[in-house]
Amino acid sequence: MRTVEYIIRWGDCLEILKEYKDDSFDLIVTSPPYADSRAKTYGGVAPDEYVDWFIPRSRHFLRVLKPTGTFILNIKEKVVNGERHTYVIDLIKELRKQGWLWTEEFVWHKKNCHPGKWPNRFRDAWERCLQFNKTKKFNMYQESVMVPMGDWAKTRLKHLGKNDVIRFNSKVGSGFGKNISNWIGRKMAYPSNVLHLATETSNRNHSAAFPKALPEWFIKLFTKEGDWVLDPFAGCGTTCEAAKELQRNSVGIEIMKEYVEIAMKKAPALERFLLEERGTYEETEKK
Ligand SMILES: C[S@@+](CC[C@H](N)C(=O)[O-])C[C@H]1O[C@@H](n2cnc3c(N)ncnc32)[C@H](O)[C@@H]1O
Repeated sequence: MRTVEYIIRWGDCLEILKEYKDDSFDLIVTSPPYADSRAKTYGGVAPDEYVDWFIPRSRHFLRVLKPTGTFILNIKEKVVNGERHTYVIDLIKELRKQGWLWTEEFVWHKKNCHPGKWPNRFRDAWERCLQFNKTKKFNMYQESVMVPMGDWAKTRLKHLGKNDVIRFNSKVGSGFGKNISNWIGRKMAYPSNVLHLATETSNRNHSAAFPKALPEWFIKLFTKEGDWVLDPFAGCGTTCEAAKELQRNSVGIEIMKEYVEIAMKKAPALERFLLEERGTYEETEKK
């Protein structure tokens, strides 16, 4: 088994990322504060100021990401005065101006959400995972996230129409085509862009931690063993933990010391020793 680096840094990602060279990371997976939704736990930024706060940080994300890399942003707009605020939509537009390609949007469906009702809406059971890239030629290892064929095949493949047995080009002019009959006899299929994952906050020591399966899925899809993963809003280190288990190197940056300490405990003693030798944690603490 190869030794991978597990580096947790304490501070504002805006400052810490200045120390990193251009094109250092293969993947950035992160869940920043959702504006000021958790103001009491770890502060936050007012929705109207969110884009201005985020953009200087994402400038560094763009710089430190390799041209073949991917940036996954897990985020959701909060409700303000009875309406969904538009900071996520505004942010997407500003990120495109900054030079990012908005390649895809995945939906994280929180499948264990309990029912709820407010006067004008129901329980919010999904979040966005926005995919941004620097170029159209990014690394993607689609075979690593294949899923069992599922029940759709039993009925769909029994009743094939004439367009199902030829390569049928998309009518929207996307250049994509499909031949449904290619799936006959196969055991595994490609997944959709909806991820059905349960939340698991109560056992991760962070009120807004995402389930480990979330970064895990993107790490498998966009990196290979030995690659470098960054989480600039690392919380209790879920992304780095997933990266370590998948044999990827990782850097997590977190501003709250209590979360840094939780994340540090996830590193085996030897790795923690190496970390202190290199001074990454101790030095930042002295500043
Ligand atoms: C939504 S939580 C991330 C939780 C994380 N995904 C996990 O599983 O634990 C956002 C985190 O960003 C941290 N944070 C806020 N501003 C930051 C900044 N400027 N630099 C680094 N971390 C920051 C917060 O303290 C919080 O822990």
